[in-house]
Order: sequence, then structure tokens, then C-alpha cells
Amino acid sequence: MGAHQMFRLHSAPLDSYDRCMTLDIESLRAGFPALARTQNGRRVAYLDGPGGTQVHESVIQAMADFMERGGSNLGGTFETSIETDSVVAGARSAVADLFGAEPNEIVFGQNMTSLTYAMSRAMARTWDSGDNIVLTRLDHDANVAPWMQGATDAGAEVRFVDFDPEDGCNLDLGTLASALDNNTRLVAFTHASNAVGTVTPVAEIVRMAHAVGAHTYVDAVHYTPHGLIDVAESGTDFLVASAYKWFGPHTGCLFGRHELLSELAPYKLRPAPGDAPDKWETGTQSFEALAGVAAAVGYVASMGEGVDRRERVISAYGNMNEYETALTNRFLAGVEALPNVRLFGRPSAEGRTATFAVDVAGVSPAAVAKALGDAGCFVWSGDYYAYEVMHRLGKAPEGLVRIGFVHYNTEEEVDRVLTDLAEMS
Ligand SMILES: Cc1ncc(COP(=O)(O)O)c(C=O)c1O
Repeated sequence: MGAHQMFRLHSAPLDSYDRCMTLDIESLRAGFPALARTQNGRRVAYLDGPGGTQVHESVIQAMADFMERGGSNLGGTFETSIETDSVVAGARSAVADLFGAEPNEIVFGQNMTSLTYAMSRAMARTWDSGDNIVLTRLDHDANVAPWMQGATDAGAEVRFVDFDPEDGCNLDLGTLASALDNNTRLVAFTHASNAVGTVTPVAEIVRMAHAVGAHTYVDAVHYTPHGLIDVAESGTDFLVASAYKWFGPHTGCLFGRHELLSELAPYKLRPAPGDAPDKWETGTQSFEALAGVAAAVGYVASMGEGVDRRERVISAYGNMNEYETALTNRFLAGVEALPNVRLFGRPSAEGRTATFAVDVAGVSPAAVAKALGDAGCFVWSGDYYAYEVMHRLGKAPEGLVRIGFVHYNTEEEVDRVLTDLAEMS
């Protein structure tokens, strides 16, 4: 199928629905102004979605509209303040629909890292020496270092869950089981690796953690542009994501069970609100970004069908998954045929995102990324802060080349980067 053809997707077997869902990738792409960018007369291929996706025009418009209408702080009696209150409420309700949560369980912050630091500071106040916390080697450092530092402050022990580099970089649930005991207070783990793309069995890990009375903190930053989040189904206590990874602005979004958000005490200013979720939002939020966050959820939902936004979100992820699986299969088949390229991570579409870490024989990752960038394929190289992953793979400090696809990428772009890789070394 050519890149400019419509990609037909089935949201469910045709015998259960008498219609088929269609994602028209070319018309979706037209909604992203940045995708029209050219370099040396050629369309740029944005293959660094894992570092940050491009922004949908509805998001740009929502942010501009907020600023054009006149902004204000929260809680005032005049019109623009009342409107700002409703922008925050709208963003909470949108992200609640994205995560399958309730609006009073959603907290916003500058980014995932700052939200995680706020949480680690608050949680560490409740830990003691004798307690332990469990982290993984598959995680971005933003879901490792804040917890390690909190544990150091509390005198708690840190235990690591390993992954198997020889077996598709799957998280090793055996080492998780042996790390857990009745003194485990927290299991912090990734929904999907931003380096090798491995998806973790979230509900199973939550169940194992809860069985010993530990809380769970899921980093869904990398997973959210690719797969459905359902905090009710997984039962996690906390989950965090960043809207700039799913077509929105630079804003962090955290889910916390309301009871826990209420119980834990953040470091906060004295006159600031004392109730959850507001008490977690230190200082003045970027209200224009929150207008954009709600629009970004609206964009995701627009790719699906259903009677309400949550249903459309669920259906949209089904459609995106199917399309991204096709891109993944194409990339994997192509890369397998390249003797100079080594893939790290799962060799099949199952259990992974469309994010690929590769090494090119005889060429440094930085040189590969530079050559691809010069050719208009924007990819990253290094460790992308997946510090533990690169150490475990023996690839620190130079790391690996990362090539990532989301639903607005095309088969033509997959072929283009494969061709460029084939010509190296
Ligand atoms: C998996 C993962 N977790 C956490 C982060 C940090 O997110 P933020 O930039 O919102 O702090 C990133 C950023 O790349 C990431 O990919």
C-alpha cells in the first residue's frame, strides 16, 4: 500500500460491526502544520515522536484562543477568571477521559519530571529506614532518580527489577517477585520503554505490588501516544504522562487515586489550596497549555467513534494501534534484511511500541543521527535519559539511535529511513 493511499482499519471484526473504521492518514497529517516542513526541498520525516510529537492545529488554536480572549488567575469573581476556572476543569475532565479516571484524580504540572519529584518528596516523608522501594532498569531516569533520592532522604533501601537484553528486553517479573516483601512501599515502573519500546504488563505488576501492600507509580509518558490507558482496569495508584508526547503542549498530567492524593502532604505554599487535586499544583499553571491539553485529548478522541469522549478515546487507540502495527511490521521486516543494523528490543510488533533502538555497524550513534538528520529524517541518538537501560545493554554513554513512529508517520517514511540506514557503514 502506498503512503498516500488511505489506510483502512477495522476497529473490530467485520462480522460484529457492519462497517469499518478508517484512519485517513493523509488528511490527519494535514492537521499538523509542522509536518509540512521541508529541508533541502524534501519533506521532513519526524521520527522522534518518543522525544516529543508534533502539535495538532486544534491544540495550537485552543492555546491561541485562550490568550486572545484574555487570561486571568483562578478563583476570581470576574469573567476571565471564571473562564480560566472552566479551562482547568475542562482539562481535568479531558485527561480523566484519556486515563479512564475521575476529574478530581488529575493533577497538572510543568512536566512528568517535576510532578514525579513532587510525589517522591511527599511519599519519602512517609518512608522509614527498614522500608524498601522497587524500581526498574527499563525506566527513563525521571522514574528512577526522584525515587532514589527520596529513598536516600528517608534511609530506605532501593531494589531494582531487571530486564533481559537477550529476550526482547522484557521486564523480568521473577526479579520483581523476589524484590517484593512486606516492607515494600512503592513499585515505580514504566508502561513502555522510551528506548527499546517494550510494553510492561501493568495490571499484573500492580497486582503483585498490591499483594504486599505497596503502592504503584506508572510512567506512561512513552506509552500514551500509542496505547490505551485504563487506570480503573489496571488498578494503579498513580500514573503520569506528558501532553507533548501525544500531540499537545508541554504539560505534565498525573493521575492519583483521590484518597491517596488527599492523604499525602505535598510541599506547598501556606495560602495555596489545601484539597486534592489542587494542593498538588504549585504556583500558577500554564492555563493556555491546559486549554491545549483538552484539545489534544479531543484530537485523540476524534480518531475514534462512540457515544462519549471516553468511548471515542478507546476506539481511537484501537485504530492507531492497528495502523502503528502495520508500520512496525514493515520496519521490523526491513531492518531484519539489513546486515549492518542491529535492533535492540522485541523483534515482533506484539508487546512493543513503534519505537526502535538500533546500532549501525562501524558508525557511532551520533554520526548516524546526524547523517539521517541531514537527510531530513529527524531521529535521536544517545541514552534519551534511559540511563539504566543503556548501562544494562552495555551501550552507555554513547547509547543507540532511536527511530520512533506514531500514527501520523507513513510507510513511505519507514522505507525512507530503512534506505538511508542501508546505505551506511
Ligand atoms: C518514558 C519517559 N518518562 C519520562 C520522561 C520525562 O518527561 P518530561 O519531559 O515530561 O519530564 C520522558 C521524556 O522523554 C520519557 O520518555
